[in-house]
Amino acid sequence: MQSLQEQIKIHEQEINAFTPADAGELETYRIKYLGTKGIVKAIFGEMKHVPAEQKKEAGQLLNAFKQLAESKYEDHKHLQDGGKKTGPAIDISLPATQLPLGTRHPIRMVENEIVSIFEKIGFSVATGPEIEDDWHNFTSLNMPENHTARDMQDTFYVSQNPDWVLRTHTSSVQARILESQPLPVRVICPGRVYRNETISARAHCFFHQCEGLYVDKDVSFADLKQTLYYFVTEMFGADTKVRFRPSYFPFTEPSAEMDISCTVCGGKGCSLCKHTGWVEILGCGMVHPNMLRNFGIDPEVYTGFAFGMGVERITQIKYQVNDLRLYSQNDVRFLKQFQSI
Ligand code: PHE
Repeated sequence: MQSLQEQIKIHEQEINAFTPADAGELETYRIKYLGTKGIVKAIFGEMKHVPAEQKKEAGQLLNAFKQLAESKYEDHKHLQDGGKKTGPAIDISLPATQLPLGTRHPIRMVENEIVSIFEKIGFSVATGPEIEDDWHNFTSLNMPENHTARDMQDTFYVSQNPDWVLRTHTSSVQARILESQPLPVRVICPGRVYRNETISARAHCFFHQCEGLYVDKDVSFADLKQTLYYFVTEMFGADTKVRFRPSYFPFTEPSAEMDISCTVCGGKGCSLCKHTGWVEILGCGMVHPNMLRNFGIDPEVYTGFAFGMGVERITQIKYQVNDLRLYSQNDVRFLKQFQSI
């Protein structure tokens, strides 16, 4: 063992001191150390004489030696190229190949924008499953079986279980929040929803909604209006006008639909607003007392408001996209027109 160590030491010194002047000297070195009859091979051959208990240490020594011998050779390999140092194989001064960068999907961008507007005033994000049971999608939202309002939404049923549906709206997340969170709650719930519609420029079998829910003591319709005014100002600018029209949703009372003045024509009339000057952007209202009761909440003590908007609709208004199908066709020419925000 000792002698092996000594041998290696001597060779290492020799290697360290060696600097080949040309390709010929390098080749001599290669044959001497790394050739089939070279020193590295010969020393590895000595291993068989090393006692078993020293083999591990000797092996490490040998490997380090082999690496040293090889790296000396590699360091001077350029001598073989006519004696000139060729420099690095990669020219780092060359312009890089441009890789096309992806962009965020416009729906996701607008969804993020909606969410962050509400986050600024204390709403937190809540999500729920896309396959829902009847209770969370309908019954608890004051839509018991045979309620005519169920016909408003063309529901996809899941064949494995008659109690399951693809959620038709994100209001199902309201139900899940009221069932699981202590009051007060203030959440914004973005997500995909499904309805059995024939696919056209104006309708699709899936789309995205953003739902808002605020339940606390003394929440009023004025709070709802002010919250939505704030949203419109942030999303569409301070000049945008707002109007509420009475409407009907089973889970809110009173209910309203909210329009904004057309951001394309400024209210003068165009194809987006169908020449009315107004575009509808969301449904809203005060949470129905029956719904609160369904979750053991006393409507005499707590009140709340809810609203729900279609993300495709907001995107359409913001970017004047006039065909809903574009959002799911994965055409990069369409998708790359949107700057990430
Ligand atoms: N869930 C309703 C829809 O899908 C929208 C809505 C949400 C209305 C919350 C009122 C309150 O049309």
